[in-house]
Amino acid sequence: MNEEQRLKSGLIKPDLSPGLGDKEKDYSQYFETVYTEPSLKDAKKRGQEEIAYHDDFKIEERFLGMGKGRKFYIRTYGCQMNEHDTEVMAGIFMGLGYEPTNTVEDANIILLNTCAIRENAENKVFGELGHLKPLKQRNPDILIGVCGCMSQEESVVNKILQTYDQVDMIFGTHNIHRLPNILHEAYMSKEMVIEVWSKEGDIIENLPKVRHGNIKAWVNIMYGCDKFCTYCIVPYTRGKERSRRPADIIHEIRQLAADGYKEITLLGQNVNAYGKDFDDVEYLFGDLMNDLRKIDIPRVRFTTSHPRDFDDELIAVLAKGGNLVEHIHLPVQSGSTSMLKIMGRIYSREEYLTLVKKIKEAIPNVALTTDIIVGFPNETDEQFEETMSLYREVGFEMAFTYIYSPRDGTPAAKMKDNIPMEVKKERLQTLNSLVNAYSKEAMMKYEGQIVEVLVEGESKRNDQVLAGYTRKSKLVNFVAPNSTIGKLVNVKITAAKSWSLDGEFISVVEKEEVLL
Ligand code: 5AD
Ligand code: SF4
Repeated sequence: MNEEQRLKSGLIKPDLSPGLGDKEKDYSQYFETVYTEPSLKDAKKRGQEEIAYHDDFKIEERFLGMGKGRKFYIRTYGCQMNEHDTEVMAGIFMGLGYEPTNTVEDANIILLNTCAIRENAENKVFGELGHLKPLKQRNPDILIGVCGCMSQEESVVNKILQTYDQVDMIFGTHNIHRLPNILHEAYMSKEMVIEVWSKEGDIIENLPKVRHGNIKAWVNIMYGCDKFCTYCIVPYTRGKERSRRPADIIHEIRQLAADGYKEITLLGQNVNAYGKDFDDVEYLFGDLMNDLRKIDIPRVRFTTSHPRDFDDELIAVLAKGGNLVEHIHLPVQSGSTSMLKIMGRIYSREEYLTLVKKIKEAIPNVALTTDIIVGFPNETDEQFEETMSLYREVGFEMAFTYIYSPRDGTPAAKMKDNIPMEVKKERLQTLNSLVNAYSKEAMMKYEGQIVEVLVEGESKRNDQVLAGYTRKSKLVNFVAPNSTIGKLVNVKITAAKSWSLDGEFISVVEKEEVLL
């Protein structure tokens, strides 16, 4: 098959990045994209499609200056991956000459970067679109866009097409690098512009970014998820698992270290699967962490993990400590083996507990946190009790807890459910009481101890007080000079609350040797 046939068959995507493709060619005939709707059916047909890798993203000259005299506003919903996508979109806007603004009234372009993980996340976005309607009526020249995970859902795009005519553009998670073209199209067109690639998505390097702050930074190490847990929409909205090349990640983090950043959070829907898609090198997440240990940056975190792929090599590397922090977020979802099976989690309660035992043996002072779903279809009282007992057995220090929310197109959404919402809510409350008690207990252990805190700035509640986080992600409030912002400091803990610690500033931490 030649390139043309492969493009037409959808096996590969047209190379659209300026400077990469053949500028003479007209690729528009290959767009299954502009003005077409996303398809969950296509997303599910996950095969061996090639992932195109582009490493010289550039904004086309014809678009430069598009934003002159215009302001953009992006509202972000959902996870850190979305927050980071917003940083990239802000980078592209700035590259186009737009200025940022903090208010919708002042904006020429408003983007909602959406989350699809649960129904209430989606409802917030529909509510916000409703609020924006009068603004659009008063000023028809503003552009309103919906991007992020919700845009990847067929049902959402249809709903917006039918009921939210204030929306000018919808684009998907695989189309962020196409923002200049999408904006151009939206300015030229009277129709709603829809560009959502339902298939895998490419890896685009060198995307511009405007990072939030200069102390902590997010770094994507991989995109997508192949786990297909039966309740989860993410594998459909974020596409197939694909890892960034190690050299690109290491280069980005070295640069951040040189720029003075103190903490990196590696992002991926399932970071433990990092590197499994490489067919030319044997280089997995443990190898990456081992290389990042050698970079002169004080803290490296990662989120989020799938227990199934958390291997012994990774545990051994994490046990070396140094800049690899001793906090692991390890979503369990349920403590019942039979429930885990229906959730498609591919591990049992016992396997999860064995993994926890190994981690605790290798890293005795580790802090473990988790995600839990209650009220999955037909979850019995006994199965819920198993979740409670697993929580106690592991001794998690914190958890994000959720009531199951059916997501269109996922296998679980088709399951008949005999558990009333009242029961689900009661279970959530019972679980949350346990989570609070364990968090408080974990906090109490710090009283009288000296901890290392990365100072982030003034406390949100009191500008006389500074706030920052420990290596184990505990929020600490204390009084210290503003000159300590952005630095690592020692703080003596004087009082523990359920979700934060109060302390007294002791000293600034002297630079530590990097462990090799
Ligand atoms: N309903 C409720 N919670 C969900 N999560 C993912 N999908 C759903 C759903 N359909 C939770 C899981 C996951 C976290 C990010 O969100 O606990 O780990
Ligand atoms: Fe969703 Fe499961 Fe993938 Fe996590 S591992 S993103 S819960 S499908």
